[in-house]
Amino acid sequence: MGAALDLPPGFAIRWLAEVDSTNDEARRLAEAGAHALTLVWAERQNGGRGRRGRAWMSPPGNLYCSLLLRPGVTAAAAAEVSFIAALAVAETVSSLLPVGRNVSCKWPNDVLVEGRKISGILLESRVGSSAGRVEWLILGTGLNIASFPQETEYPATSLHEAGGVAGAAEVLETYAARLSSWLARWEAQGFAPVRQSWLRWAEGLGRRITVRLADARLEGIFSALDPSGALVLELADGTRRLITAGDVFPADR
Ligand code: BTN
Repeated sequence: MGAALDLPPGFAIRWLAEVDSTNDEARRLAEAGAHALTLVWAERQNGGRGRRGRAWMSPPGNLYCSLLLRPGVTAAAAAEVSFIAALAVAETVSSLLPVGRNVSCKWPNDVLVEGRKISGILLESRVGSSAGRVEWLILGTGLNIASFPQETEYPATSLHEAGGVAGAAEVLETYAARLSSWLARWEAQGFAPVRQSWLRWAEGLGRRITVRLADARLEGIFSALDPSGALVLELADGTRRLITAGDVFPADR
């Protein structure tokens, strides 16, 4: 199945019909010494995981993959990879949909089509003993192609629902090519070009949003993305708050 894929140089595919979670499989491989750019791709997951401990429903027909990276950077810099992934997904989805569909990136790393979530990203890492640098970084991506969950906090959609016709293999090839190109650019030029491009796809920039934190809810204007990737929220009293973790919604939700 995976053998026929056209992948960028250095990528090595591990295809599985079923797995608990591609992130867990990639972690096991990482701990066993697998090379950077090992890409785990499964047809279905029986223990798919989302951000903040949520489950990620994973029936066949959608894309579930995890890329093992060993970028040798600090955990803070490694977090920038989630913006790279969101950009690569946005470019992929946009190229596989009819012209004119509104594709956007919702902070920190979701991708939306016409305001509905089509993809989520789960970044996990192990920090090694060497000066706080990550030993491995796993970039897990779920992309709805054939189906999407109905009961979600944020409305969802899929590639086919939005008018695309590509299957998982074509989506993965396109995504891997975009990822490879952005990772190379990040390694050569740092986060600045990634941040600039992400801002062009940003959902809600300059508008009133709600941010749900673990224990609070804030409303304000999404005024900028700071140089580290934190969301800058301008509160009603004019003060600015840096958000490093949370869920973003339009202001009325
Ligand atoms: C989110 O939006 O909450 C992130 C969802 C991430 C889901 C993907 S599917 C492939 C990889 N394996 C997992 O268990 N999770 C990620």
